Amino acid sequence: MVVGVLRETAEGERRVALVPTGVAALKKAKLDVVVESGAGEAAGFFDAAYKDAGAEIGDVSACDLLVSIRPPSLTLRPNQTAIAIFDPLWAPGEVPTASGATLFSLDLVPRTTRAQAMDVLSSQANLAGYLSVLLGATELTKILPMMTTAAGTIAPAKVLILGAGVAGLQAIATARRLGAVVSGYDVRAVVKEQVESLGARFVELPLETPDAQGTGGYAKAMGEEFYAKQRQLLGDVLSEMDMVVTTAAIPGMKSPILVTQPMLERMSAGSVLVDIAAERGGNCELTRAGETIVHNGVKVYGPINLPSRVSTHASQLFSKNVQTFLLNMVKEGQLAINMEDPIVSGSLLAKEGKIVHAMVLDKMGAK
Ligand code: NAI
Repeated sequence: MVVGVLRETAEGERRVALVPTGVAALKKAKLDVVVESGAGEAAGFFDAAYKDAGAEIGDVSACDLLVSIRPPSLTLRPNQTAIAIFDPLWAPGEVPTASGATLFSLDLVPRTTRAQAMDVLSSQANLAGYLSVLLGATELTKILPMMTTAAGTIAPAKVLILGAGVAGLQAIATARRLGAVVSGYDVRAVVKEQVESLGARFVELPLETPDAQGTGGYAKAMGEEFYAKQRQLLGDVLSEMDMVVTTAAIPGMKSPILVTQPMLERMSAGSVLVDIAAERGGNCELTRAGETIVHNGVKVYGPINLPSRVSTHASQLFSKNVQTFLLNMVKEGQLAINMEDPIVSGSLLAKEGKIVHAMVLDKMGAK
């Protein structure tokens, strides 16, 4: 079986799905690897390093299996298999089924202990959480740590992280490392302990949230009445903050609005809100994906594709996820799709051009 590594073509995408160490691991499992020339360049992995690891540099269009970060930019063939982030719960209509190929979507890998090493959403969100705080810290008109100097003592900045999933917990850890006084809030009460173990205060709102936990460690959507009450209660907390990072997400859905314009207007001029849920509409009413706006002196950032900014490490982690995922399905150098394995069945999006994933079919209204 020959695995092809695609060069990403989306604007601003600097990552690559497989790095040279990944190539070496696949070679060891009796797979051949062809890499599109320049595929890893923007992440610091050059053709020579891929060749040293045992890959061929060349045309990937006839490979049996293709790996990429975004959906493949070339037209797939019916006998091919592709592994990428197809984002089918968000955009089911864009799944390339017409090709007749078999597709595995890495964002459908269940969040279970065994699948942890294959979970690209976690590996990349972790980096996004780290970067969100760095971004906010450089834009804030204050410093984060307490500083005692001959010219006086500066109080530490107050940082609030809304949504304490993978990105949020890393944002909390990063803000703590930089010396801020950090608070965290999540609709899933089970994360209170995790927030506190990172040295942050867990914001408890008098809200009933027994049903907030969905499957696989993700949150469930709540009703509009709940969100309205939540915003009302969060308003006071927000007004005291220097920096707010929002990461609240519901899989496959528009991000819940946690911060409205009146809430933002209660924050002091010079403070910053970094909304990493921007791509799905954002957690703040004023967020514009990929843009920065200033409202009453408060800066609102809506960064997209943060992991691409640290393309070397993001690719390294993504590659390890892909390698583990793929090798879980390979026997004697061939693909052996075992539908009894929940990781395999959970991430199989389309088989020979037909969408087979229940949640995606449901989203399409086809079930
Ligand atoms: P996650 O599912 O692990 O965490 C989201 C958290 O939000 C969960 O803990 C959930 O309980 C919480 N949440 C949901 N509704 C809430 C509410 N109403 N109030 C408070 N908390 C609520 O997701 P993950 O992997 O941490 O990703 C977070 C966000 O970051 C997602 O929107 C994802 O798309 C985005 N992301 C953005 C990137 C960028 O470059 N901007 C890169 C990677 C991820």
